[in-house]
Amino acid sequence: MLGKDLLGLYDASAEDIVAILDTAVGMKKLLTQNLKKLPHLQGRTVTTLFYENSTRTRCSFELAAKYLGAGTVNVSASSSSVQKGETLIDTGRTLDAMKNDVIVIRHPMGGAPHLLARNVKASVINGGDGMNEHPTQALLDFYTMREKFGSFKGLKVAILGDILHSRVAKSNLFGLTKLGAEVTMFAPATMMPQGIERLGAKVASSREEAIAGANVVMGLRIQLERMQGGLFPSLSEYNKYYGVGEGDLKGAEKDCIVMHPGPVNRGVEFTSAVIDGENSRIEEQVLNGVAVRMALLFLLCKNRQGGEKA
Ligand code: CP
Repeated sequence: MLGKDLLGLYDASAEDIVAILDTAVGMKKLLTQNLKKLPHLQGRTVTTLFYENSTRTRCSFELAAKYLGAGTVNVSASSSSVQKGETLIDTGRTLDAMKNDVIVIRHPMGGAPHLLARNVKASVINGGDGMNEHPTQALLDFYTMREKFGSFKGLKVAILGDILHSRVAKSNLFGLTKLGAEVTMFAPATMMPQGIERLGAKVASSREEAIAGANVVMGLRIQLERMQGGLFPSLSEYNKYYGVGEGDLKGAEKDCIVMHPGPVNRGVEFTSAVIDGENSRIEEQVLNGVAVRMALLFLLCKNRQGGEKA
């Protein structure tokens, strides 16, 4: 059962994942009817505590909370007392003292949300921690896949890009294997974690092999800031050997969907024709992200109802 926090999908059960996705179906219906002043979280407060940049995760959590009637607060590390040396735990306890109910945290250090969760009364949601996990991105990805294909059993998901540094890839792998999907990964050797097969992934030796028969083709952002590390020679060479163009999709299933967590580097991971093409679900992923985050906030706050409030 979903507990106080959502810190990752490594420890989540398939039942928890399905419960969140099922709840998100109703939330999406409300969203598509443009019902954005709902009472579900009236009297609750959700704080986004971000130590790294974000557009999608932070905005969609904030909007999800607002649409359900919660109060929201944004704390950016760059403009908060973190700059004065306040610790993560003290920041969390300060928010507890203000009767905050949920903290959504993004942090460059893997494990920071776990440390925070152990030390605060508020529910903690991992909005991305270092190279570890990004569970709500994976949940919205699963929602998008299930919306198209109905089930995960035997679904072939190809994930291409910087697997090594990707928290999205890891959360997808942990969740998809529990749900019965087959995950194939492809990356330059410098961006593929050693031993990923032991976590249930198949590793392809070419782009064509990864995409062959895929129902889902997912690209990952190449983190331009890492180019200085010499992980690949140039963006154009990356695109030539590891990027996906319209022609590359011919090997996938005809009704495959193309996904990307964003932000996308156009012409690097995918060509514009793929990003804007008829198989693309990239914009739908963003909408689904709001519905999934509404569902998660609702379920976590419901769990808190009988328990201790911050
Ligand atoms: N997908 C994702 O996490 O995007 P942001 O960095 O914009 O939140």
